[in-house]
Amino acid sequence: MRKRVLSGMRPSGQLHLGHYLGVLVNWAKMQEEHDCFFFVADWHALTTEYERTQVIRDSIDEMVLDWMASGIDPNKANLFIQSHVPAHAELHLLLSMITPLAWLERCTTYKEQLRELSQRDLQTYGFLGYPVLMTADILMYDASLVPVGIDQLPHLELTREIGRRFNFLYQKETFVIPDQYLTKTSKVMGLDNRKMSKSYGNAILLSDTAQEVWDKVRPMVTDPARVRRTDPGNPDICNVHDYHKIFSDEKTVAWSAAGCRSAGIGCIDCKKAMYENMERVLVPIRKRRQAIVESGISVKDILAEGSARANAVATRKIQEVREAVGI
Ligand code: TRP
Ligand code: SF4
Repeated sequence: MRKRVLSGMRPSGQLHLGHYLGVLVNWAKMQEEHDCFFFVADWHALTTEYERTQVIRDSIDEMVLDWMASGIDPNKANLFIQSHVPAHAELHLLLSMITPLAWLERCTTYKEQLRELSQRDLQTYGFLGYPVLMTADILMYDASLVPVGIDQLPHLELTREIGRRFNFLYQKETFVIPDQYLTKTSKVMGLDNRKMSKSYGNAILLSDTAQEVWDKVRPMVTDPARVRRTDPGNPDICNVHDYHKIFSDEKTVAWSAAGCRSAGIGCIDCKKAMYENMERVLVPIRKRRQAIVESGISVKDILAEGSARANAVATRKIQEVREAVGI
């Protein structure tokens, strides 16, 4: 039996290397062996972008194009839009009845986001309920595996707790309790060593050209002790060196560390080598993107087909849920 896999992504702008390494690499791998549902979490985007819904609308097709450029194949995985499957909203409502407020209020991602996005008013019912909506997405499809970035683990923990609570309250194993699925390099930091995020302006985008990537890498902050080329540095506190560990082979990582400590190499040499290895990852994505655009494939048609398949599964499941609740 093929395992059911489900994952989603918010359409909040162009995708970056963090999405690729943290999530999309896993998706591409999983579509080969499992029954995958990957969706555009537009309602989740609405929890923070409710004042600028244009961004959501404008991002959807571009994002799915980035997925496909990263190797996600609509012939292997079901690609759909959350808001095109209204049963997610009904399940969210039913789960909201049994979710203790304290579970949501103590969620670390909730508290962190309130702080980080302090320029937005996120004191809303919908934003607090973000993990409940995510729980609905996952439990709806009897997903046993959920590929996510490390930042989403607190949400997945809540999903399991809410799923168990529902099964317990209504005395039936209605929901499959899912496991997370992470990769080694789930966490790639941004150019400024904060979390990589388009809203922080510290991201390498999958749609960046080679020149744009270099223009971002060249000014990266390094060990501030290396004022002059002859000053030795400490690679352990340098973000460029961390990137080497992700993109370069062992020999080059060692070359960067030793050259840094002895002032044998300059920071520009070091960045150039890292950039070339980063490009090895980005070039095939760029090429695939180009080929898809030129082929004239309609992303809208792909999403319409995928949404129809998702609706078929969700309609059956929500019926089962209604019966369990007895209403
Ligand atoms: N919260 C996820 C993110 O920001 C997106 C998401 C919504 C999701 N629903 C999901 C991921 C269900 C996995 C499963 O990345
Ligand atoms: Fe960073 Fe490399 Fe410069 Fe050392 S040589 S400070 S690792 S960029």
